[in-house]
Amino acid sequence: MDDRPRMKPPSLDAILGDAAATGFAMSCEERTGSLLATLAASKPGGTLLELGTGIGAGAAWLLHGMSPAARLISVELDATRQAVAQRHLGADQRAQFVTCSADHWLDTYTGPALDLAYVDCRPGKFQRLPDLLSLLMPGGIYIVDDMLPQATWPPDHQDRVDQFLTHLPSTPNLLSTPMRWASGLVVGTRI
Ligand SMILES: C[S@@+](CC[C@H](N)C(=O)[O-])C[C@H]1O[C@@H](n2cnc3c(N)ncnc32)[C@H](O)[C@@H]1O
Repeated sequence: MDDRPRMKPPSLDAILGDAAATGFAMSCEERTGSLLATLAASKPGGTLLELGTGIGAGAAWLLHGMSPAARLISVELDATRQAVAQRHLGADQRAQFVTCSADHWLDTYTGPALDLAYVDCRPGKFQRLPDLLSLLMPGGIYIVDDMLPQATWPPDHQDRVDQFLTHLPSTPNLLSTPMRWASGLVVGTRI
């Protein structure tokens, strides 16, 4: 089976060009992006969240799958990185880019319950998972990547990932599946 994506967001090549030019090496890989688009398409009119915008590759994939009435909130601590995403995707009225820490966003969000959350930084994944899940509506999708070992990880990171994966089956309100595919994913549903 050839599992390379058959689709691509129109802005992706330019975003990845900026990633290469600026040395940003943390954009999601294309199979993950294709799955993000596919899952985003399952939530027409929904409210979708990305924690950790980076320079916008994941957001481009999510927007590629989203219906015209769906909304994406993408949160990033680093204003310089998020400005790149804004430059490529900011004209899309469905996207809202929020520059703040994921912790602050989790503490202050008062909008509609989320239909999908792609968590790509520590809060909402290795930290504060219950707080993130409390914002997802029943049936909402939870997805994280980078669960398989990477050469760039700091020495303590494998233990962090192992702890996260070990506790997932006993996490209340979440039915999840670890996937040894792409960079290593967990796809879950809020129950
Ligand atoms: C793996 S990269 C994101 C890649 C992006 N989601 C994609 O798919 O292309 C993680 C990003 O999270 C940001 N980040 C790290 N800690 C954060 C925090 N506490 N709150 C918000 N963003 C954070 C980093 O600055 C970095 O840009």
